[in-house]
Amino acid sequence: MSLKGSSLISISDLTEEDIQDIFHWAGLFKTAAQNKTSVGDVVNFKHSRNHTAFLVFAEASTRTRISFEIACHRLGVKVVNFSDLKNSSLAKGESLEATLTALEALGASVIVLRYKGGKLQSDCKTPIINAGFGSYEHPTQALIDAWTIQQIRGQVKGEKVLIVGDVLHSRVSNSNLKLLRRLGAKVAICSPSALQPQDDFWQGVHCFENLNEGVKWASVIMCLRIQTERHDTNVGFSIASYRDYYLVGQEQLKMFHKKGVLIHPGPYICGVEISPDVFDDSRCHIITQVKNAPFIRAAILSRVLNLELKGDKLPEGDKKKT
Ligand code: NCD
Repeated sequence: MSLKGSSLISISDLTEEDIQDIFHWAGLFKTAAQNKTSVGDVVNFKHSRNHTAFLVFAEASTRTRISFEIACHRLGVKVVNFSDLKNSSLAKGESLEATLTALEALGASVIVLRYKGGKLQSDCKTPIINAGFGSYEHPTQALIDAWTIQQIRGQVKGEKVLIVGDVLHSRVSNSNLKLLRRLGAKVAICSPSALQPQDDFWQGVHCFENLNEGVKWASVIMCLRIQTERHDTNVGFSIASYRDYYLVGQEQLKMFHKKGVLIHPGPYICGVEISPDVFDDSRCHIITQVKNAPFIRAAILSRVLNLELKGDKLPEGDKKKT
């Protein structure tokens, strides 16, 4: 089923057409921003002005929340921010389900939600966009990552993506494995045994024991943060030993593909996952990912809210249909 008017909870909710359209729209938004022209040249503003997005963030966020807010402003969609959940009815014991129903009644056209739980079961009729659900999925981040790879490498198909770090607790890597595979990339991981995923979904994904071997194989390196807030027991290694074996720094960049791409969804801990000097390397696109985030999120919002492109901006296939 198409994403038009529907929720985005998992990469599995996207059709091939959704993915290609999101990339197409994001490209139009990026070009408009680069040319300093209005998003109104790209989408029909008269539709977007009727909408209100509720940004519900029950977990810490910088990039995701702010880039959704920027995306809404550019589209002319009104924003209600709801992050102070300690002072909400949730703190009085109300369920998330009841809260979402109340937000719907208060006029939300779309609810952008980040929370600690996993896959959400909700009867809410208002579309929900997953902005990070526990260790489950983070589909909008994966779309940013794949689009960034496509923009820089020219394609995703055939790329060799090495995911380094805390794959076990990462919602980003779950969405990325689904999306990158669908787009034809090869995915491998490199992480301490305590942070390797064990579920069926990850079975068969190659795990490099040695970081340098993985780096020599890869055309894309995706580092992840060690998500200590999701570790419920002592994971059996220290930050110092992690740094010794898994930090991506100058030594790794020397053996990395000359036109490779280094990314990290952030937040990054310099000196643990990556060394600060990697930012000086032209292959490091961690800031590009942040810059790309509002364009991809504006494209996702446009699709979920069923906004319309101006006729001349339609992809060639759609122009013929009209
Ligand atoms: C990630 C997240 O919150 O899942 N970051 C992000 O959204 N850009 C990764 C993390 O928390 O480490």
